[in-house]
Amino acid sequence: MLIGLLLLVISTCSVLAQPYKNKLLPPEERAKDLLGRMSLDEKIGQMTQLCASSITLDGTKKLDLNLSKIRSYIIQEHVGSFLSGTGKAEKWIEFIRGIQEVAVKETRLGIPILFGMDNVHGSNYTDEGTMLPHNLTLSCSFDAKLAYQAAQLTALESIGLGHIWNFAPVLDVGKNPWWPRLYETFGEDPLVCARFGSAFVSGFQAYKEKDLAQGASCAKHFIGYSDPKSSWDRTPSEIPDQQLYEVFVPPFRAAFRAGVKTLMVNSGELNGEPVHGSKKWLHEQLRKNLGFDGVVLTDIKDILKMVEMHRAYENEEDATLAAIDAGIDMSMACSNTDFIRIMKKLVTEGKISENRINQSVQRILKLKFELGLFEFPYPKTASLKNMSRPEHYRQALEAAKESIVMLENQDVLPLKPEMKHIAIAGPGAHSRRMLNGAWTLEWLGAEEERQPAATVTLLEALKKKLPQSKWTWTDSVGFDRKAKSLEESTYFQTWKNEAEKADILVLALGEWPYSEFKGNASDLMLDEKQTQLLQYAQATGKPLIVILMEGRPRVLPKLRKDKMAVLFAGHPGMAGGEALAEIMIGSCNPSGKLSFTYPKNTVHTLPYYHKMSDKYEYAWPFGHGLHFGDVNYNSLQASDSTFQTSDSISISISVSNNSKMSVKEAVLLFQTDEVGRITRPASQLVDFKRVELKPGESRKIRFQLLAKDLCTYPDGEGREVTEPGFHRLRIGSEQIRIRLKK
Ligand code: BGC
Repeated sequence: MLIGLLLLVISTCSVLAQPYKNKLLPPEERAKDLLGRMSLDEKIGQMTQLCASSITLDGTKKLDLNLSKIRSYIIQEHVGSFLSGTGKAEKWIEFIRGIQEVAVKETRLGIPILFGMDNVHGSNYTDEGTMLPHNLTLSCSFDAKLAYQAAQLTALESIGLGHIWNFAPVLDVGKNPWWPRLYETFGEDPLVCARFGSAFVSGFQAYKEKDLAQGASCAKHFIGYSDPKSSWDRTPSEIPDQQLYEVFVPPFRAAFRAGVKTLMVNSGELNGEPVHGSKKWLHEQLRKNLGFDGVVLTDIKDILKMVEMHRAYENEEDATLAAIDAGIDMSMACSNTDFIRIMKKLVTEGKISENRINQSVQRILKLKFELGLFEFPYPKTASLKNMSRPEHYRQALEAAKESIVMLENQDVLPLKPEMKHIAIAGPGAHSRRMLNGAWTLEWLGAEEERQPAATVTLLEALKKKLPQSKWTWTDSVGFDRKAKSLEESTYFQTWKNEAEKADILVLALGEWPYSEFKGNASDLMLDEKQTQLLQYAQATGKPLIVILMEGRPRVLPKLRKDKMAVLFAGHPGMAGGEALAEIMIGSCNPSGKLSFTYPKNTVHTLPYYHKMSDKYEYAWPFGHGLHFGDVNYNSLQASDSTFQTSDSISISISVSNNSKMSVKEAVLLFQTDEVGRITRPASQLVDFKRVELKPGESRKIRFQLLAKDLCTYPDGEGREVTEPGFHRLRIGSEQIRIRLKK
């Protein structure tokens, strides 16, 4: 009793003497107090992030902690952040606990580590994690609530394991279909990216659990990353500032409003300047104009890239100075601590002031306090109960069902009972990897054998749902890798024999998963062998279902006009096979709509908001998606036909479901600003809502818009331009015209 009392007195005295330990004080104040106690070395260490591979026993991402290495990085070099790794939930807890113990118990100030992860489609680096659809697929639902729920589930399955900092969401606008990270974006539309991105931020950062730190989201990659001129990853972008303000900035602005705590910088160069060294974008725009005050992190080894890749600086010292000058707070140095050495030298030489360092470290410490890391630095074994839960699989299933897009259906789906003998083939037919895509246990997506066991392939799901049917499956794993031509492959001969006997053919085609530069494409056509297979299948004249599992829209050969269905699945996650099967048998009415333009040819690719002097060609346009049965629109109305900038406009439309199934319909409201001195897009999504309609039901849907949002756009300096004139509003084929008065 006496000892207990004594301990309490000692700890109270210690908190009083060290205000940063007092959890009742605001994070800002605690950070300031702590900062005041730190040496220069300790401060620079906080600005440094290393990869897990630098602290594991075998130098890979496998979660066996090398204690002597971690001690040396944390105790001697004061490193404040680590990232990445892969393994079982239990191993994660042990690994991050080990790291935090060194940081908290064995260092002078006991500053916990901020551990970063790319949990971009669920807790995707944990064996038991739920693999949700990738963003491109999810955004086809046009229901941002799904992004909020996805983020909450990700938080539930990862924060307890110690994954506090999530490098998600990707807020790059996916307007270039060639770009190999398209599947990580929420599609081509800035408003959709803004709504889904900010919903994700809110969902992740709002997650709270007793005795656990909270999570921080990371808006990435600021700015202009997703539309490089050559379309290859991390190659230069040339985007006029006006377009940056109009198209690329809005998703970030929305995330800032949602309170995103951190941001990652674009690895590439923009208009002749690596963004990591850009004062204009990182200081003038990001900090001053957009008012972002959170932690700014480099992308991987990107200070060095300014020397080796962009050749903008002669050496790492100059590059470091430029990045710090521009506004970087933390370097994802990854593999070594050169950053620490260089920073110390720059400070000693008077090139970087300690004041400047204090600004960054204050932000980093404030973040650690805000998240509650000082109170709850450790992962929680009790969190293991959150893993592998059937309701999480069901959430993944719902998300996939809401997102898959039926692009074509000429009397094929739902499958008819007389279609008894089904021949299924293609790389996605019986592959878990094709469903989950990249960033699944491994950067490029784990090999088939290591894919999460709960993943149900399309073939497995179909067999389960249609046990009476006769299934023939032609093994096609490795199908586009081995044989030189399709005819040469034994696989193709088998398929031909099977196809002859079958009533209906199913082809699951697309792309093997890839990440970043590994997915650079020189041709947007579907690869040659799959194209040939599709052509053979069409020539048989048999009913045909094509399922597209791909990270970006690969251009297809000319499609037959009858007895044909096409479904876009993208990378729909671990329940994607079952979701597809449900749509195919008709127990789910497909409701996704394309959040991007599906190109018709490989050279002329444009987003739907191209300029009026351009011509929009597509295989399927933005917003396209079919249901079983028709949904009709009529009586589009606005509260007034003329308006002023200060007005609020009410717009309504009747939507009716003329089918025998209930339907979820994404109602998309577009506008065209008819005349603009800075030429206006042919069309622009200004609002969207998703509604559920029972069979035969009609409903009036209302949108409330601020006139200002309709009729202002940014100029080349980001200032708002407002011009009087006509605006056309459109939902489906309904159109009306309204006018902004002088
Ligand atoms: C990617 C980032 C990612 C980082 C850490 C980089 O290569 O560009 O999006 O967050 O790696 O894994």
